[in-house]
Amino acid sequence: MTTQDYINREDKYGAHNYHPLPVVLEKGEGVYVWDVEGKKYFDFLSAYSAVNQGHCNPKIVGAMTEQAKKLTLTSRAFYNDVLGEFEQYVTEYFGYDKVLPMNSGAEADETAIKLARKWAYEKKGVPENQAKIIVCENNFHGRTITIISMSTDPDSYKGFGQYTPGFTVVPYNDISEL
Ligand SMILES: Cc1ncc(COP(=O)(O)O)c(C=O)c1O
Repeated sequence: MTTQDYINREDKYGAHNYHPLPVVLEKGEGVYVWDVEGKKYFDFLSAYSAVNQGHCNPKIVGAMTEQAKKLTLTSRAFYNDVLGEFEQYVTEYFGYDKVLPMNSGAEADETAIKLARKWAYEKKGVPENQAKIIVCENNFHGRTITIISMSTDPDSYKGFGQYTPGFTVVPYNDISEL
């Protein structure tokens, strides 16, 4: 298959919620990725930082493979023998009291909004359901209903109302508006 064949297939069968660059990547190693035509690139984007550790790090691949062979998933209905170790490591490494792991950026943003609102209601005396969150124009934080509710980009929000209330939009880098 050619590069165009792969692109056409994704266009035909996948939802058009992103508009990727016309490069079809096939494999990666460390900072490098290769496309289906064998062309080599530096991966300066690193999945917007989700792959800052580089591609296919043997230590990480080894740990994932070993875990997948041992226990697939516990859900949060049970404790398991590795989550606490991870939580201790990242909180000590980054200097925080607690961590709440998320599967995606949008989920992380949603959770940050929930934390900020609950803090406002329980600790700061903001009347219930009246918290306001200030966001900048032209933001992008993902595709959930609440997150597109703070978007000023019609490509993100148009056609998906009704929207979550409670956001105030200001221009970016404008202290007086803020
Ligand atoms: C700044 C920013 N926030 C949030 C997200 C959403 O992340 P996810 O696609 O993992 O939900 C993205 C995704 O591109 C992003 O660039």
